[in-house]
Amino acid sequence: MKKIKEFFADLSKKQKITYISLISIAFLLTESILLWAITDRGMKGLFEWVNYIRTITFLICLIGFIFPVIAGIIIVISKNMNPSKKPLKSLLILTIFSLIIPIGFYGYVGSIPYIRSGDKPPQLLLLNGSGANGIPNLAVSFWTEDRTTSGINWGPTSSMGTRSDELTKTKIHSFLLEDLSPNITYFYQINDAGQIYNFTTMPDIENTFKFMTSSDPHFGAENNNLTATNKILDQLADPINGYQSFFMLGDMVEMGNNDAHYQEACDTFSPVTSHIPFRPVIGNHDAMIGGHQFWVDYFSPDVVEDAPRDYFHIEVNGIHIFVLDLEWGTETYTKAQKTWFENELEENTNPDDWILVMSHCFYYVSGYHVDGSDWWDHQEMIETFASVFIKNGIDMVFSGHNHIFEVLENDGIYYNIIGGLGGHPDTYYAKEGVVGQLGTGSIYYSTDIFGFLEVDIQGDDAFLTFRTPENQIVYNYTVNRL
Ligand SMILES: [Fe+2]
Ligand SMILES: [Fe+2]
Repeated sequence: MKKIKEFFADLSKKQKITYISLISIAFLLTESILLWAITDRGMKGLFEWVNYIRTITFLICLIGFIFPVIAGIIIVISKNMNPSKKPLKSLLILTIFSLIIPIGFYGYVGSIPYIRSGDKPPQLLLLNGSGANGIPNLAVSFWTEDRTTSGINWGPTSSMGTRSDELTKTKIHSFLLEDLSPNITYFYQINDAGQIYNFTTMPDIENTFKFMTSSDPHFGAENNNLTATNKILDQLADPINGYQSFFMLGDMVEMGNNDAHYQEACDTFSPVTSHIPFRPVIGNHDAMIGGHQFWVDYFSPDVVEDAPRDYFHIEVNGIHIFVLDLEWGTETYTKAQKTWFENELEENTNPDDWILVMSHCFYYVSGYHVDGSDWWDHQEMIETFASVFIKNGIDMVFSGHNHIFEVLENDGIYYNIIGGLGGHPDTYYAKEGVVGQLGTGSIYYSTDIFGFLEVDIQGDDAFLTFRTPENQIVYNYTVNRL
């Protein structure tokens, strides 16, 4: 310590400021990676749930401590060898080297939203609220690498008739289709050229709605099953099946920070989801590191004034569907989201209404002990939401996150897990002998499956049918709302 003090005493004021500030900046920047990991929306869940992510983060932070120690060692050794010679060059090289990790890291994280794979084709997206005729407003949304002004023609006949144009150049293109009439086929065309798309609105029969839901396709993973995903999309597109909307419950991509994964997902979905009203829910993989920006750009257009971008209250024929942003758990359940959800329930629903809740993360569930965490009955989620669901008369809950099919019943509320859209099935853990546990209230549970859930609400009854990608029924049951 004495020798380090002597070394700094020998330096000029300018040299002192240079070395002390460089070493301090390198140290603080490196340590701030820990702060980033526990606060960033795309990281904090990963940090909390996955052992090896915590280990890597702590190792990086340890390196922050190692560089000042090495600097001290260099000073002591060089003082011992030659007290008059200052190891300025070695220290400068060391300091520059210690800045490489934090600057490289933040450079990479900051650059993620700017690294895109290409234009994203149109999606027909369900929006917050309800139009004048009791069915939801929609948006046609697409993304271009170049800033352009686009326009859309749309209307209830093939000659369309309504024209919307963007006034300023933009990469995010969204066009609001509002106050749609029920049970009508609409047409739209983008920029007066190419494909004419069509979609049919749902009939306006009180408490009637038939939709498909599934979750976790994990585009871009090494082990996802694209054949299963495509077969499910074929079922969605087949008019015989009569699906009026599709709710995709998250983990659309494997790595949210990789736009190539989003590209594959958007390209694969668009031929179907440009025709069937679509509402994706953000999952933990979608939001990973900087992935939230991609998701918002592609699936949450800023077209409804003052409406939240990450969570939704969609109304169809008096049926309330709440789509929440719950990725790993309650980390993303912000004060704003909590206030919004409780206010919407309080002011805009009645416990006797059909009320459905959708989120990526589960509440009650069966699962395995993976990456150092228990992936069954999510205590924090149950403590936060179960009493709210009971108090407000929620009827059915839909989630993914675990790659299984499951139905659980607790306090008269049916919890459905539908992680069968192509991500590697959790049966892998069973085969590996990983410890697992059955969730509270489990009625039906399958780990070795791909598929989707058909939900057909007709008046006071909802008919729920779990199906394989080939449309075979594997489990069905009925819920009565009264
Ligand atoms: Fe997943
Ligand atoms: Fe997930």
